[in-house]
Amino acid sequence: MKTKILVTGACGQIGTELVKALRKAHGWKNVITSDLYPATEGMQQGGLYLSLDVLNKKKLGYLVEQTGTTQIYHLAASLSAIAEKNPVAAWELNMRGLLNVLEIAREKNVAQVFWPSSIAVFGPDSMPSVCFQNSKADPLTVYGISKMAGEYWCRYYKRNFGLDVRSLRYPGLVSHSAPAGGGTTDYAVDIFHQAIAKGSYTCFLKENTCLPMMYMPDAVRATLELMAAPIENLSVDTSYNISAMNFTPAELAAELKKHMELKVNYAPDSRQQIADSWPLSINDRQAQQDWGWQPHYDLAGMVKDMLGHLTFKEAVWLK
Ligand code: NAD
Ligand code: SER
Repeated sequence: MKTKILVTGACGQIGTELVKALRKAHGWKNVITSDLYPATEGMQQGGLYLSLDVLNKKKLGYLVEQTGTTQIYHLAASLSAIAEKNPVAAWELNMRGLLNVLEIAREKNVAQVFWPSSIAVFGPDSMPSVCFQNSKADPLTVYGISKMAGEYWCRYYKRNFGLDVRSLRYPGLVSHSAPAGGGTTDYAVDIFHQAIAKGSYTCFLKENTCLPMMYMPDAVRATLELMAAPIENLSVDTSYNISAMNFTPAELAAELKKHMELKVNYAPDSRQQIADSWPLSINDRQAQQDWGWQPHYDLAGMVKDMLGHLTFKEAVWLK
């Protein structure tokens, strides 16, 4: 069967990068992007873009049928910090959106679904410092609760309807192509832009707040590798832990200072409480064993690559 991919929430931080990789792997004609925004000429340039609210199940079903979609990458969601500002709306988007995708996938015989979970499923009672694949979920945020429930809905559709739905618990993601979308780990993206623009940054987390993080090229590769893995190798039917690096704002700032002048102040806000409930590190042995997961970027490698991309963009923009 020919692969035809539909990506929801495609204009966000992950979609911006993932779509490029999917188009490279499957051909641009076979990857249809969608988001809330009306289609502009720019969006249409890389391939077919459709305006789609994932809460509109009827339209989602129509588009899946009309395009002959065989795989859905469901990225539309509200991230942790934004979700805390309007918990009921975030729950509706994260849960209803996922249920619409799972139901349409079942009804229209979509072959595979990818849905991202998060380290936010863990919390104070999970483990003191390192969370293993089967550590207790203990989410304190509405975002984390929606990810935990989502994992179990995915498992339900897999067990009861044979739907091939796969999932990763992404750590905080750092990327240069798109801004971060309202999460607690966004500081690790913002600091690069402010460092280049102003040589200073005010961080909304305390300097010693350690969190699991990953560079976007690794996250995109993990996604493609999981989706291509033989199904019989996959022993986790909720969501796979994946890990690359753990760092604090102070450690990221110190790495940046090896390349530039930078002054960092710390003014923790409500996002500190969210960060304090998340794990310091993640054990991903099961992903390594089942589908050979290995990260390529550590902190030094990520900072060097990010600065290479961002300073090049800055130079082109200034011309
Ligand atoms: P993002 O906020 O950057 O992008 C989400 C996109 O969804 C946006 O473009 C937004 O316009 C779109 N959207 C919002 N409501 C919609 C609706 N009703 N219908 C259709 N589209 C809608 O988020 P992201 O960072 O790209 O994250 C994508 C997924 O990955 C989410 O499920 C998120 O929870 C998960 N995730 C992200 C990270 C991270 O660090 N970025 C970490 C763990 C998990
Ligand atoms: N990076 C995400 C956030 O901060 C975690 O899933 O919301």
